[in-house]
Amino acid sequence: MSVFHIAIDGPSGAGKSSTAKKLAKELGFTYMDTGAMYRAVGLKALRLGIDPMDEEAVSAMIGTTSVDLALEAGEQQVLLDGENVNPFIRTQEVSAAASAVSKWAAVRTMLVEAQRSICATSDVIMDGRDIGSVVLPDAQVKFFLTASPEVRAHRRTLELQARGEEADEEKILREIIARDEQDSSRAVSPLIRVPDAVLVDNSDMNEEETCQWMLNIVRERMAK
Ligand code: DC
Repeated sequence: MSVFHIAIDGPSGAGKSSTAKKLAKELGFTYMDTGAMYRAVGLKALRLGIDPMDEEAVSAMIGTTSVDLALEAGEQQVLLDGENVNPFIRTQEVSAAASAVSKWAAVRTMLVEAQRSICATSDVIMDGRDIGSVVLPDAQVKFFLTASPEVRAHRRTLELQARGEEADEEKILREIIARDEQDSSRAVSPLIRVPDAVLVDNSDMNEEETCQWMLNIVRERMAK
């Protein structure tokens, strides 16, 4: 059976997951948010009082951890040791912990294996940091989706405000820059744009325009 894989990589807050979700719906593909899996591991470390920066402790923890993805009412759910942790993984604290634990080779090896096995038999659109470079190097289409840090911070601020939450745009910008730096400079599978990835800078595009642009590229490739 031949399967079609689409990889979307890029920094935090560039709109990877909302764009990937829309594309998956249009194309009838399964969408996989790999960041959610790193977030689940970060959450477990926080819950156990383990320092996410402590490689030895996190690597020992991962040996007795299971992270799976399941679909419920069409929405991806992350199962951490069998518990659906979706409601707990979107806080700033978990974002920082996820970025820290994602540096460790033991964590990446375990999660990459799980991600590959999920896509072996299905048409998948997957987003993350190492999808085009490590998880799906043979993906038929690869995108590198990005926007300037200022634009990403502004979007995140509006998102939080729309949810009635407090948002300090300057602090958010500092956090985004710090996470970009941490994700791009780590030794194992850093965030990089592979040469065969199509660069999509959506600083001046809305979500609809971004999706249409990407969809056209996918359809062109599918027709070949
Ligand atoms: O995409 P996100 O913000 O939910 O990702 C959370 C963290 O996980 C992010 O700081 C980097 C890390 N990550 C990764 O290293 N590799 C992936 N494929 C996905 C996420």
